[in-house]
Amino acid sequence: MHDERQIEPVTLLKDHEPQALLRIIFDYASKIADERRLDQLLLLMADMGRQMVLSDRCTVWLLDKETNELYSKVAHGVPPLRLPAGAGLVGHCIAAGKPIFIDDAYHNDEFKHVLESGAIAMDRQTGYRTKALMVIPFYNTDGDIMGAYQAINKLTAEGQFSVKDLEQLTLVAAYAGKSLESALLSYEIEETQKEIIFTMGEIGEIRSKETGNHVKRVAEYSYILALGAGLSQEEAELLKIASPMHDIGKVAIPDEVLNKPGKLTEEEFEMMKAHTTIGYGLLKNSSRRILKAAAIVAHQHHEKWNGTGYPQGLKGEEIHIYARITAVADVFDALGSDRVYKKAWELERIIDLFREERGRHFDPRIVDAFMEYLLQLLDIREAYSEDIHT
Ligand code: C2E
Ligand code: SIN
Ligand code: SIN
Ligand code: FE
Ligand code: FE
Repeated sequence: MHDERQIEPVTLLKDHEPQALLRIIFDYASKIADERRLDQLLLLMADMGRQMVLSDRCTVWLLDKETNELYSKVAHGVPPLRLPAGAGLVGHCIAAGKPIFIDDAYHNDEFKHVLESGAIAMDRQTGYRTKALMVIPFYNTDGDIMGAYQAINKLTAEGQFSVKDLEQLTLVAAYAGKSLESALLSYEIEETQKEIIFTMGEIGEIRSKETGNHVKRVAEYSYILALGAGLSQEEAELLKIASPMHDIGKVAIPDEVLNKPGKLTEEEFEMMKAHTTIGYGLLKNSSRRILKAAAIVAHQHHEKWNGTGYPQGLKGEEIHIYARITAVADVFDALGSDRVYKKAWELERIIDLFREERGRHFDPRIVDAFMEYLLQLLDIREAYSEDIHT
């Protein structure tokens, strides 16, 4: 008989709030972007996953197609692990290309044999008690399977992974796939940073009813407006990556306010306004170019050309050009989309508003670029229109 004694976690933890999740991603993202050693990367990524979903253990496995083995690094000073590609739950997950979710390894019929010769056999040697398990595959940019994330035992009172954990680890796994791919192909730091930004943008959006395409459209609009306003190709590309994060501070706004179907009270709008300073606070400490730009945009995208905006009441060119551009992109998109609190506007009405607000809310130069490149903007709106959703 093996020992079924449950190892009691020292403290039971509570799932993270979105802001804390972002903090974890930021902290790891900077370390990951600076890391070129594969083994070190695997450890960092495993740790990031472990902290995000609050699992006791987390391992990142890479599929080595040359040797047909699973490769992993589990600790400093311990040689990397190598297993036959088909082995264990990870092998199953990779072969099937689907996540595996197990509530209790000792009472699971589907993977009984795999578990008995794998995790349970291992427990017998070590005295560990494997209970909840989650294995999630990840892919390279061509869609080929690269490996899998494996998380064991949830450290909250429930002791089980949730659908949310699955979603979060899936996002992290997607990011890990891209980062590892670049690591394997001699490292493309800028690309990695783009992935980080999109991962963060998506986490922000989980909470608001704005869909994933909002950030994509704002990115593309900002790019066209930046070029139209005479910025360099390089700056336009930088803004395209940074502008999707303008509303990242909304992660800290309470649901009742963020998703309120009607008009906000004055007090609620005051709370909402804080998304600018909160976003700035999340981003401002980075020394990276992209995140610095994102911090400025998050902070200033609701400032107005005539000085009546928030949070600082900046005026004219006191407002950074990136924020003046993103403001036009954001409002164009907000007006053209259904929101929980309003229906989408007709194009004519939107154009009227920009004409009226030229030199009031918006920088006249950017409004001119808006009018000049409107057809391109509409093409983007068409290409990234909303998916039919529930
Ligand atoms: P958002 O929905 O992304 O809107 C961004 C900006 O687009 C708004 O910034 C505003 O400048 C413009 N905009 C959006 N809808 C309208 C509209 O119907 N009329 C006009 N004239 N402009 C519009 P703003 O006003 O600073 O709002 C910031 C954020 O606060 C909004 O982001 C939204 O999340 C929230 N919000 C604003 N008003 C309401 C409201 O009445 N109800 C709810 N539930 N949320 C609101
Ligand atoms: C990055 O942009 O690579 C990570 C974030 C940071 O440096 O803080
Ligand atoms: C697996 O079984 O999931 C592969 C590694 C392990 O035995 O846990
Ligand atoms: Fe905003
Ligand atoms: Fe927005």
